Amino acid sequence: MIVEEIRLVRVNQNPPYDYREELVKLLSEDLDFHGQGNGVKSHIFHSFPAKFPPHLPRKFINGLTNENDIVLDSMAGSGTTILEALLARRNGLGFDIDPLALKIASIKVTALDLNSVVETGKHIVSNARAAYNENRDALISKLETKWDVKTREFIDYWFTQETQLELLALILQIEAIHQPDLRAFFELVFSATIITKSGGVSLALDLAHTRPHKAKLVVSRSGDIITGERAENGRSAFLTKVLRSSFDEFEKRLKINLDGLIISAPKGISAKILPGNAEYLPVPNSSIDLIVTSPPYASNAIDYMRAHKFSLVWMGFAIDYLGEKRKEYIGSEAIGNVKFEKMPAFTETLLAKLAQEDKKKSDVVRRYYSEMTRVLKEMYRVLKPGKAAIVVVGSSVIRGVDTETQNCLAEIGQNLGFEVPKIGIRNLDRNKRMLPAGAKIDNNSQIQQRMHQEFVIGFYKPQ
Ligand SMILES: C[S@@+](CC[C@H](N)C(=O)[O-])C[C@H]1O[C@@H](n2cnc3c(N)ncnc32)[C@H](O)[C@@H]1O
Repeated sequence: MIVEEIRLVRVNQNPPYDYREELVKLLSEDLDFHGQGNGVKSHIFHSFPAKFPPHLPRKFINGLTNENDIVLDSMAGSGTTILEALLARRNGLGFDIDPLALKIASIKVTALDLNSVVETGKHIVSNARAAYNENRDALISKLETKWDVKTREFIDYWFTQETQLELLALILQIEAIHQPDLRAFFELVFSATIITKSGGVSLALDLAHTRPHKAKLVVSRSGDIITGERAENGRSAFLTKVLRSSFDEFEKRLKINLDGLIISAPKGISAKILPGNAEYLPVPNSSIDLIVTSPPYASNAIDYMRAHKFSLVWMGFAIDYLGEKRKEYIGSEAIGNVKFEKMPAFTETLLAKLAQEDKKKSDVVRRYYSEMTRVLKEMYRVLKPGKAAIVVVGSSVIRGVDTETQNCLAEIGQNLGFEVPKIGIRNLDRNKRMLPAGAKIDNNSQIQQRMHQEFVIGFYKPQ
């Protein structure tokens, strides 16, 4: 068990301290963080596409803020920045619109009593196993009435009947927990048994990537066929899945998450995660000391909802609602009701070039840059003068045109009053990289080289 330790932080109090120079220095240093591990603590609670290595927000928090300062992440995802702020004794404020991201980030920054978690965990598993073994009929009839038709179809397509019974037995126990933080913690353990790289206990072969493929042959751990047929030539290994017991997987995941549990949070420091749109923040003007954030890719290249719905349907979210919600994400491809903003020259030229290849895609990217214009405008409004926003982006290649996200966002930011003293480059670990759906790998192509990089844009709000 990891006991919360006090992290030693650097306090920048030696005048004359040149903040802008420090920003440039930090952006010029190593931003790859290869071989430095994924961190400990509740960072390990749940997978999340394109999440920060904890070292990244840590570097800027330690280098650019003091204890008790306020750090914002307006597209907080799994809450890496806010957890790092808390661990470094800074106040953290995170917003997101994704229901699962909000659950993950909130519980990651919540201190819980270890004994209560261990005891509740034991109860959940033993009661759920008992219900599954002794009360199957009751579970079967609940399964029949729990969802609307479309959500039901989704669940029937992606989960075997036995897995459905196991998961229902578990989630019913979790829903019965009175203490909200404890319930949220176990919802996350539950979700992490489904959303894993291997597709967890669903029939998907991979839920860490964005396009789930369904297994054609499903076998038990002892090799018995559950669904599908074994091909005679043995080629069926491809698209084969070994399905495990949801109870065993839940227990395994619980053990892992117990190791990351925060059992005491620093006193007097707040870490808040709230539902909210990064384009319109309920945050006062000039109140934030540092922003560290990363928006989605343009053109929905990483589709969060595609994987998140696999566990959200078990927590009361209907599939139709989630489909509608997906259209609200920055970078979504829906362009029906979107307000376009005026673009500065370089960005406009790039959009015109893309429109020559594909007008619709160009409008999708125009939507993205319009949304990001409003996001950057909000960042400028809420930042204190003389402070910075660190925005991490990847570029996308659409119809052979590089969206040059880092250069367009820098230009848009400058147009709004920011200075952009430096754009740092982060080389992604190729083995770990989750490429946007549809991306083909050709390591010699220049564009592909860039797909293995992220850009760390330093926006500075002048005094
Ligand atoms: C690249 S992820 C952030 C990952 C995060 N840095 C981490 O370490 O987990 C981008 C996030 O932006 C969120 N998002 C999309 N549209 C948003 C909006 N309008 N307002 C706030 N968040 C939004 C997505 O739900 C997603 O969680």
